[in-house]
Amino acid sequence: QPAKKLLILPGDGIGPEVMQEVRHIIAWLEAKRGLSFAITEDLVGGASLAQYGEPIRDDVIEQARAADAVLFGSVGDPRWNHVGFEKRPELAILKLRQELALFANLRPAKVFDALVDASTLKPDVVRGLDIMIVRETVGGIYFGNPRGIETLADGSKRGINTEVYTTSEIERVARVAFDLARKRSNRVCSVEKCNVMESGLLWKEVVTDLHAREYADVELTHMLADNCAMQLVRNPRQFDVLVTGNLFGDLLSDLASMLTGSLGMLPSATLGAADSAGKCPALYEPIHGSAPDIAGQGIANPIAQILSFAMLLRYSFDYQAEAQLIEEAVAAVLANGLRTADIMSEGKTRVSTSEMGAAIVNELDKAQA
Ligand code: NAD
Ligand code: IPM
Ligand code: MN
Repeated sequence: QPAKKLLILPGDGIGPEVMQEVRHIIAWLEAKRGLSFAITEDLVGGASLAQYGEPIRDDVIEQARAADAVLFGSVGDPRWNHVGFEKRPELAILKLRQELALFANLRPAKVFDALVDASTLKPDVVRGLDIMIVRETVGGIYFGNPRGIETLADGSKRGINTEVYTTSEIERVARVAFDLARKRSNRVCSVEKCNVMESGLLWKEVVTDLHAREYADVELTHMLADNCAMQLVRNPRQFDVLVTGNLFGDLLSDLASMLTGSLGMLPSATLGAADSAGKCPALYEPIHGSAPDIAGQGIANPIAQILSFAMLLRYSFDYQAEAQLIEEAVAAVLANGLRTADIMSEGKTRVSTSEMGAAIVNELDKAQA
């Protein structure tokens, strides 16, 4: 098999710290499982702004297009908090999603048995939880026009963003959700605010039509986004697959992360449409950001980044066995009581980012022996 082309973009803050632990896992896979990866790495976000004056170079976008998959860290750097949107570090990820048309962001929230006590919710509420949030990522209020800040006649200002969704944008992401549900518990809950937004009303109509036409075997329900936020805390296990727009999906997935114990646990995959040769553009990233409050301390949880890499192996490279080995190694390390600061609780062993990474590699070794 030719080496898989992998583009690694660590980004800012804790991004490079947690990515380093993935590097150790890649080295292990090459040494012990005979896999080979053709890896290129580049700068994005604040790191790229510092070096090149822009959050992402066109050349990096072209590299992403050419790669078999992209592993992304996180972007965001307080040094650029004052600059305009065209120069913010976050533009790197927004542009990658746009340019590669990565419209479906899969954000699984799974509770590891060893971590039922780490959630801020009661163990009985979260035990065994396994939900999948499918977030639309190239449309909605993030990208709709008009947008901007206008100065009014009296000198005061007006900030404008517009929520826009078209039939085809809704349909393609809903299709992803229905297809996923068929491989899971066969239930989809579609989330919008059709009670106040036309884009939400259209969302509901399009999902309902598509369901009737092609997915009548899947159980479909609809929920208003505010109620959904409440239901995710009240009884998260009522859900299987959730499908929603860009902004609601962003909020609900951060909320869902706390059901699993920490934002530092949740991976994601952002997928586009397959081309005629069957190649599907894909980017994998933790749902957390660059965590400037803990960057540089070596205490970030690398598991979200590591599980994002496992998703990459599963979805883009079809290395199912290796993905499973990694997921099991993570579960084993947690069962052994090792905890980074964000998931630490009484009686457990506190470890650093690199100690957590090394412990996972150690478990891989044990499983392989
Ligand atoms: P954040 O996700 O970076 O951090 C939120 C909180 O969670 C912080 O207290 C942080 O310490 C903690 N946390 C996050 N990841 C952790 C991990 N792996 N281990 C332990 N603790 C972790 O969100 P924020 O602070 O609102 O944003 C910081 C910057 O990151 C901003 O510039 C934002 O735009 C950016 N951001 C980027 C992405 C991305 O690149 N995909 C995602 C979210 C936020
Ligand atoms: C995410 C992040 C991004 C988003 C930001 C950094 C642009 O919060 O991936 O969840 O809002 O999509
Ligand atoms: Mn987010």
